[in-house]
Amino acid sequence: MKRLVIEPNERRQIEWLVDDVLDEYGQWDAVQFASHAKAVAESLPIRVRQFFRRSQTAETDLMVLSGLPLSPELEPTPTGWDMAEKIGAGTREEIVLSLIAAGLGEPFAWGDQQNGRIVHDVCPAPGMERSETSQSSTAPLSLHTEDAFHPCRCDYVALFCLRNPDKVGTTVVRADNLNLPEKLAEILSEKRFYHRPDQSHIGPHGHDTDAVDVDAILFGPPESRYLRIDFDDTTAADENDQEALDAIAELYKYSVAALERVVLEPGDAIFVDNYRVVHGREPFEPRYDGNDRWLKRVNVLRDIRRMFMLTGERSRIVA
Ligand SMILES: [Fe+2]
Repeated sequence: MKRLVIEPNERRQIEWLVDDVLDEYGQWDAVQFASHAKAVAESLPIRVRQFFRRSQTAETDLMVLSGLPLSPELEPTPTGWDMAEKIGAGTREEIVLSLIAAGLGEPFAWGDQQNGRIVHDVCPAPGMERSETSQSSTAPLSLHTEDAFHPCRCDYVALFCLRNPDKVGTTVVRADNLNLPEKLAEILSEKRFYHRPDQSHIGPHGHDTDAVDVDAILFGPPESRYLRIDFDDTTAADENDQEALDAIAELYKYSVAALERVVLEPGDAIFVDNYRVVHGREPFEPRYDGNDRWLKRVNVLRDIRRMFMLTGERSRIVA
């Protein structure tokens, strides 16, 4: 994991950029801003831009920026993303995340997730405690590749921590640390697996649960494997393929053995390489008193044209 600690003068530089964005673009709209974000991100501190370039070239699997600016007037943690959207909570932090994410790549959104918003709120919601979504709390969020079911899944998941008083851990498993036996790696590299849409994509406007993709779980360069797995939603393409089912169970054991936890502090933004790392979250007790864990999240592609080609639309929102 590579970490860059933002210096006070760099923090001020980022705060001025946020002021400029609010002055120039008026009412904050992350989707509208997305097409301008890369140009504005050119004015981020040079150390941030160099950190991203070097990390991307080296295929660094986890990157953290620490000491990013947080507003002294940060609102209480909303009770769910819909509440956050309604009251426009954490606007300055959304701009910070939009800018740094654009420094690394191209932010985009899913039409069926959080109302098509490009910057998501990750905070516990009453009634969702045991769901398989980012609104859960008392149930752990299982290890997964973000949006594993879809060919447009992001290259990086960016999580910007606004509040985490109980030091709830983000769980990560890095493909490089799995040490899988050759035979197991071989089975996981075959196109014998279904990747179904997860619960966050299911709903009146969600993806069809039958529209699943058959693919491998392991792929890419043998010396530096890529992973595609959601332990809640990946299964054998053929329900009678016991070898494939056993391989998923074995992979889970190896993943648990390689599990690491990262505790995000307020002002930390982590960029998780979605091809090299699977992630999840430890369980915690929500309080719903305005002090719960609160992150802003954005999905980032290295090249937005890959999405245009796959969807056939020049849009940053995957329908
Ligand atoms: Fe996730």
